[in-house]
Amino acid sequence: MIRIEYDRAISDLDESAVARSVDLAQSAERTLIDGTGAGAEFLGWRDLLHNPNDALIEDVQQTAEQVRADADVFLVIGIGGSYLGARAVIDALTPYFGSSGPEILFAGHHMSGAYLKDLLAHLDGKSVYVNVISKSGTTLEPALAFRVIREWLEARFDDADRRIIVTTDPEAGALNVLRQEKKYKKYVIPPDVGGRFSVLTPVGLLPIAVAGIDIRSLYYGAVAESERYASGESTAARDYARVRYLLHEAGKTIEVLAVFEPRIYSFGAWWQQLFGESEGKDGKGLYPAVAQYSTDLHSLGQFMQDGRRSVIETFLMVERDGGDIAVPSSEQNLDGLNYLTGRSMTEINRKAYEGTARAHANGDVPVMTLWMDAVSPEAVGAAIYFFEHAVGIGGYMLDVNPFDQPGVEAYKSEMFSLLGRP
Ligand code: PA5
Repeated sequence: MIRIEYDRAISDLDESAVARSVDLAQSAERTLIDGTGAGAEFLGWRDLLHNPNDALIEDVQQTAEQVRADADVFLVIGIGGSYLGARAVIDALTPYFGSSGPEILFAGHHMSGAYLKDLLAHLDGKSVYVNVISKSGTTLEPALAFRVIREWLEARFDDADRRIIVTTDPEAGALNVLRQEKKYKKYVIPPDVGGRFSVLTPVGLLPIAVAGIDIRSLYYGAVAESERYASGESTAARDYARVRYLLHEAGKTIEVLAVFEPRIYSFGAWWQQLFGESEGKDGKGLYPAVAQYSTDLHSLGQFMQDGRRSVIETFLMVERDGGDIAVPSSEQNLDGLNYLTGRSMTEINRKAYEGTARAHANGDVPVMTLWMDAVSPEAVGAAIYFFEHAVGIGGYMLDVNPFDQPGVEAYKSEMFSLLGRP
């Protein structure tokens, strides 16, 4: 369950605007829940939690176990919504060092030739399985990477076709044509689920399961969070959307999502796409930027404290962190840190959060905090739904369609014209 603290974000705002925002947020949430707003044909991400498909979860789990038994490397090819969710959950829920099972690698999320060349060298001699994920099947980055990887795989493995799993549209797209010829195993991306909302479909679930994560608990963590909003038990997502909206209307332009646990940094990258693509249209929206503290306090700290006051700051914190370690004592105490002897690193990190939030609030940055219970499959599932629900409400409060992304086409048509596409 996600908990929100936001008093320090709205303390300087006009009281009547704050009062008005309550009704506006309620009505936006009603629109989302009733499916009566713009883009309502893309609410499949919510419907799939109302009717969990246990057979699909089981099927994905079985495929993952087969891959885990035979693969040294599981290569996920995809970009945007076809990779950020899997990477977010895998980074959050696997150990920092030395995970068991196949190494999970990504490709097709940029167009670096050097990366692909080094990747092929790294794959040499290893048992490689590939999951190519593309709803359209025509996105340039994954299509190019798949072309390279498929040629490499076919030259090395007699059973290359068995090692390729496609996740794509039920019918349309180039991957379906190839898949029919090659008899690749296939998972479907539901047409009513947009890329950035697809982490709880096979797009995310298969790579996450291959990483050894309990996808059932992840999925049902999201189901439980969705029920809390449907029943009115929690207003956390609505409050988050409302506070962001109020600050947007007050002229703020950037939201920094700051994490103090590095394992959830990639979750912030997933959040960036979710909010950037959903709200950033018609000249509206907060620019979403993720930061990892305390690391980035040594690079962004000056701006956050003292720069242009266009920023709001949302801390994504974890109530019960995982492992911990105590500070050892030092006989010489040359660094002067013996006053911390025996204190836990988690406690020190927590004090860094409290101090940062206090300092930035004093520096006129509206700050709020979202609390996850733990970094567990259930809690990460809950956080996924929390943000998806919040961005739906936020989009409707801004009067934009939160489920389309017309703006992402412009750079593609310029790029394709430079590349001379026929
Ligand atoms: O949210 C989106 O729709 C995009 O980020 C897409 O997921 C991304 O462009 C990849 O598209 P596709 O899965 O069609 O290759």
